[in-house]
Amino acid sequence: MYAEVLRLLVDDYEVGGVSVEVLAGYDGRSFGEAIGLRLLAAVHSMVLSGTAPELAAFYPSVGGTWDPVLGWEAFEQVLRSRLGEVRSLLTQPPQTNEVGRSAALYGGLLHLVAAVPLPVRLFEIGASGGLNLRADQYRYLTDGASYGPADSPVVFDSAWSGQVPSVDLRIAERVGCDIAPVNPLTTDGALTLTSYVWPDMSDRLERLRGALKVARDVPADVRREDAVSFLNALELSEGHVTVVWHSIMWQYLRRTDRSAIEARLQELGGQATESAPLAHLRLEPHQVITHDRGATGWEYRVDLQTWPDGKRRVLGRAAPHGQELVWEA
Ligand SMILES: C[S@@+](CC[C@H](N)C(=O)[O-])C[C@H]1O[C@@H](n2cnc3c(N)ncnc32)[C@H](O)[C@@H]1O
Repeated sequence: MYAEVLRLLVDDYEVGGVSVEVLAGYDGRSFGEAIGLRLLAAVHSMVLSGTAPELAAFYPSVGGTWDPVLGWEAFEQVLRSRLGEVRSLLTQPPQTNEVGRSAALYGGLLHLVAAVPLPVRLFEIGASGGLNLRADQYRYLTDGASYGPADSPVVFDSAWSGQVPSVDLRIAERVGCDIAPVNPLTTDGALTLTSYVWPDMSDRLERLRGALKVARDVPADVRREDAVSFLNALELSEGHVTVVWHSIMWQYLRRTDRSAIEARLQELGGQATESAPLAHLRLEPHQVITHDRGATGWEYRVDLQTWPDGKRRVLGRAAPHGQELVWEA
């Protein structure tokens, strides 16, 4: 659906349609700023909150059926009639808290705890609504094995391929930071998070709605703080493995912040011991050469580095929202 909407938006822009006004001042923005995603989410939030009923009939997230002809007409009409509102929503950076990424983070955690059997302190940077900080509260079904509580409202069918160890996972702390955290317990927060899910992706919507329920019962402390100062205040703890994790947030950091985070992790790693270890677990894109003509593409890797040994390994690969997750042998 969004592929079609975006193509129609490009056509509209090229012929000088309403999208030129909507996007005035935004040309030349970087890919990482995800202006297209912001625009789609702005309109989706109007549909979800019931203020764009003429468009709701075409949005599967509220029971409608997408139609590229009539749906686009209604979409364009909303851009025309709600121009000011859409433009004010465009100023907000993306807030996708993708529950699908929990599979990669959780599986990575099981790999870690199999090697380092200690209770876990979880620290997430760029945590958004903190939904992935509850990754152990979701149910993961795979060929021949299952993980997580059987009664969880979040279920991953065919969560991954490849082997993941079954371990006794104990989470002692769940703390996150974000420069613009979303509270998943409020109506507004739930609306914001839902608006960033693509309306015809029913699996993602279902998992998000389940995760919003889990969030009511399982607290996580997500602070309004940038990643650098959050990690500067982090200390290791005796008898725990301290895990710093993140997914699809690295692209939003300034270069200097990336370097500061890497330096801080090295510093903490230098203080790590067998009884107070540190781990850095992430699902982030890496640019790779895709074929012999030298073109580049993106590969989303689950990477783990542990200290005191400093060992670094690629655990698996997934698609950007955590789907098609494959663990290395
Ligand atoms: C695409 S979202 C991903 C959210 C979550 N990690 C996930 O995978 O569902 C990126 C998040 O990074 C946050 N962010 C961007 N820059 C940040 C910074 N310097 N410090 C902390 N969070 C940041 C954004 O506010 C946003 O919530």
